[in-house]
Amino acid sequence: MSMQIYPSILSADFARLADEAKAVEGAECLHVDVMDNHFVPNLTLGVPVVESLRRATDTPLDCHLMIEDPDRWAPAFVEAGASSVTFHVEAAAAPVRLAREIRAKGARASMALKPATPVEPYEDLLPELDMLLIMTVEPGFGGQSFLDIMLPKIRRARALIERHGLQLWLQIDGGVSADTIERCAEAGADVFVAGSAVYGAADPAAAVRALREKATAAAPSR
Ligand code: DX5
Ligand code: ZN
Repeated sequence: MSMQIYPSILSADFARLADEAKAVEGAECLHVDVMDNHFVPNLTLGVPVVESLRRATDTPLDCHLMIEDPDRWAPAFVEAGASSVTFHVEAAAAPVRLAREIRAKGARASMALKPATPVEPYEDLLPELDMLLIMTVEPGFGGQSFLDIMLPKIRRARALIERHGLQLWLQIDGGVSADTIERCAEAGADVFVAGSAVYGAADPAAAVRALREKATAAAPSR
């Protein structure tokens, strides 16, 4: 299992997005937070910005949709060039149909769980997904403190993935830093979103490498 670091451009300078994307070109993916001021109390960007980012960088884009009605909007983010599209199960009307549509359009399908949403009810859906996102803060803002109480959920999700022999990646998002990444890797996460820990660093590319090294060293051998 290789450890992947996805810098979140929520913590980047939005007036210099092309440069900010280039600053982390060693990262496996760029994490793009889409917020609609309804599903979460914040507003960020939409399809046109994703299209422009796609032209500005070779790094694949991972779009995290914190929006109402992802059933309607997610396909447009695949068409805009996202390699991976994450919808929130709390907002999706038909998560299986939506995951299949995202895959059919050529992107990886991912489903997110807010901190209070348990993973167990979705066990049967996991084969429909390429990635599961467990939020480790309440979605909406960067720079929040990591919720340690999510570690048991990460462990239970990893156990479900192994029990079913699935290949899906287990992503965590929120409060990931040099101080918290090791316990997440130990618990079974393999894809780490980091906003402030990357873009708040003097050298974002070096911060990505340092996070990946810590996660790799802490990951259990499977
Ligand atoms: C929060 C977003 C995160 C955010 C993470 O709702 O989904 O992707 O950018 O920021 P940090 O890493 O600063 O917690
Ligand atoms: Zn995110």
